[in-house]
Amino acid sequence: MPQFSPSDHALMQQALTLAWQGRFSTSPNPRVGCIIAHGSQIVGQGFHLKAGEPHAEVHALHQAGSAAQGATAYVTLEPCAHHGRTPPCAEALIRAGVARVVAAMQDPNPLVAGKGLAMLEAAGIQVASGLLEHEARQLNRGFLSRIERGRPFVKLKTAASLDGKTALSNGQSQWITGEAARHDVQIQRAESCAVLTGIGTALADNPRLTVRSFPTLRPPLRVLLDSRLRLSAGSHLLDGSAPTLIYTLSERPAPAGEAEICRLSPDAQGRLDLSAVLSDLAARGIGELMLEAGATLASTFLAQDWVDEIVCYQAPKLLGGAQSPTLFGLPENPSALSRAPDWQTVSVEQLGDDIKWVLQRRRG
Ligand SMILES: NC(=O)c1ccc[n+]([C@@H]2O[C@H](COP(=O)([O-])OP(=O)(O)OC[C@H]3O[C@@H](n4cnc5c(N)ncnc54)[C@H](OP(=O)(O)O)[C@@H]3O)[C@@H](O)[C@H]2O)c1
Ligand SMILES: [Zn+2]
Repeated sequence: MPQFSPSDHALMQQALTLAWQGRFSTSPNPRVGCIIAHGSQIVGQGFHLKAGEPHAEVHALHQAGSAAQGATAYVTLEPCAHHGRTPPCAEALIRAGVARVVAAMQDPNPLVAGKGLAMLEAAGIQVASGLLEHEARQLNRGFLSRIERGRPFVKLKTAASLDGKTALSNGQSQWITGEAARHDVQIQRAESCAVLTGIGTALADNPRLTVRSFPTLRPPLRVLLDSRLRLSAGSHLLDGSAPTLIYTLSERPAPAGEAEICRLSPDAQGRLDLSAVLSDLAARGIGELMLEAGATLASTFLAQDWVDEIVCYQAPKLLGGAQSPTLFGLPENPSALSRAPDWQTVSVEQLGDDIKWVLQRRRG
């Protein structure tokens, strides 16, 4: 008999959809959803909203009340077994008398992986894991990247014309894409724990890098790479409308305004050490990082193979100009076409007149 029934699949899918509701706010915690059901009848459901607040299982058990007795709990991540800011969910599930727990995936932290499921099993509860695991990993790709690779999941956003230009030769770049695409960028930012840019973009465009289209519980951290602290005092990034972190090599005093300055040692080429930046961001709890920089940093990140996803908004405009900046500005060809990095199209969508193209790096 297969381990999971069609009803198990449908209910786990619903738990994933619930978890997605926390996409703007759970970090540094994972996005988690929970459904409690008897057969296909749902008696309780919940999702995790914010660090420090109850976990998905607690909400679902509260809603189910005594109906949790003998039910199956579907959770998008193995229930926790440790006392964090809230008591362990595995204990709560045992106390409520559920008969079966299905998890989409184990906890990625090697120190705790399997402990929640083992605790449930030891209490006589039937446990299973791995249902819709691929989807659950996509849901928490930032959280997983931070725990498993010690660096954030990097999403490169770029807006370009049909001929791959990101600005005119005179530098004008606002706006290449239309309103619907720009609204979508706001959603992409809100889903990210942090938005990173380079001093080239900060000086050229004075961007805000904030979420303004809708209220958000957890504004993404604004991160600037500025080796020589060239940012000027009037910059929007220093306006305090969202937290800002500046990585630099410079000992100069910080420009007036609201930002945390993080001084790093240079890498072997005397530049800001970007792998140190990524590890530091992960240590600060940054899981999903959106890169909204110019061609210089975009191509540096691509050349290092640090970009996990590209979100490309392409406008039906031909901008031309041999000197105008192109999308990525990679300096070198691969030695053969077959050696070009492999990207997989995840989705293509029309937004107004523009195309949104999402690609993920296919890694062996
Ligand atoms: N179409 C789009 O989607 C889009 C998005 C963003 C920006 N843009 C456009 O891009 C243009 C700016 O591009 P850009 O290439 O000049 O700027 P950028 O990529 O935003 O920033 C580059 C700067 O980052 C700093 N940096 C710090 N550490 C670095 C490292 N390890 N490696 C490389 N750079 C490092 C360098 O300045 P220091 O050495 O002084 O630190 C470098 O000049 C603007 O015109 C903007 O409008 C377009
Ligand atoms: Zn928990």
